[in-house]
Amino acid sequence: MVAGNWKMNKTLQDGIALVSELKALLADTTPKCEVVIGTPFIHLATVAEMVKGTPIKVAAENCADKASGAYTGEVSAEMVKSTGAEYCIIGHSERRAYYHETPEILREKVLLALANGLKPIFCIGEVKEQREANQQNEVVKAQLEGSVFNLSAEEFANVTLAYEPVWAIGTGLTATPAQAEEIHAFVRSLVANRYGKELADNTTILYGGSCNAKNAAELFAQPDVDGGLIGGASLKAPDFKAIIDAR
Ligand code: PGA
Repeated sequence: MVAGNWKMNKTLQDGIALVSELKALLADTTPKCEVVIGTPFIHLATVAEMVKGTPIKVAAENCADKASGAYTGEVSAEMVKSTGAEYCIIGHSERRAYYHETPEILREKVLLALANGLKPIFCIGEVKEQREANQQNEVVKAQLEGSVFNLSAEEFANVTLAYEPVWAIGTGLTATPAQAEEIHAFVRSLVANRYGKELADNTTILYGGSCNAKNAAELFAQPDVDGGLIGGASLKAPDFKAIIDAR
């Protein structure tokens, strides 16, 4: 899978223009991977309509940790699903850091997404100090145990994981292919311990963090890197298309 994460970028009009451009670029090709674009809530319904009949799927970047009710400004998983979106990014490091989303909150979001037929793209990853202290493995293990390893195997089969080292996000500092492979293989071994080898082998584990048209092929060539979650480079259709082609 190659999934874009627009973050808080693009007006509705600019988002429509970007999707039109991407659709045109993908028109005469059949991508070798699943293609997902993660957009702000306000774009979802329009973009979902625009990509009908194409290989492109749509993701929200977040959903509420409550089902419905008096939570001014929040958007529920059920509401996201009603737009035609199929995926929901949950636990992005920016949500964890700036909006104080704890493992318990993220666990609720994952459960609500699944209960409403959305497939979570669950993000994990260590900050720079943790990498420097060689704590990345224990950090991602705790993040998985805190929010998704409570799921049944049937539920977990709908979860895509995204390993995103926080020090690599938006910094131009990419994990080396060897660093990515090492931790992706570790994450897959954790999934195997919890759910068995077959489900682990079928789990999609994306890499995210300054992945671009130049470095994508080398990252995606690693056996345990099943694609990418792309921030900055998903905002330009030709760059995003080049990354899709690298998968
Ligand atoms: P980036 O962001 O590609 O701009 O580093 C990735 C992400 O945050 O998902």
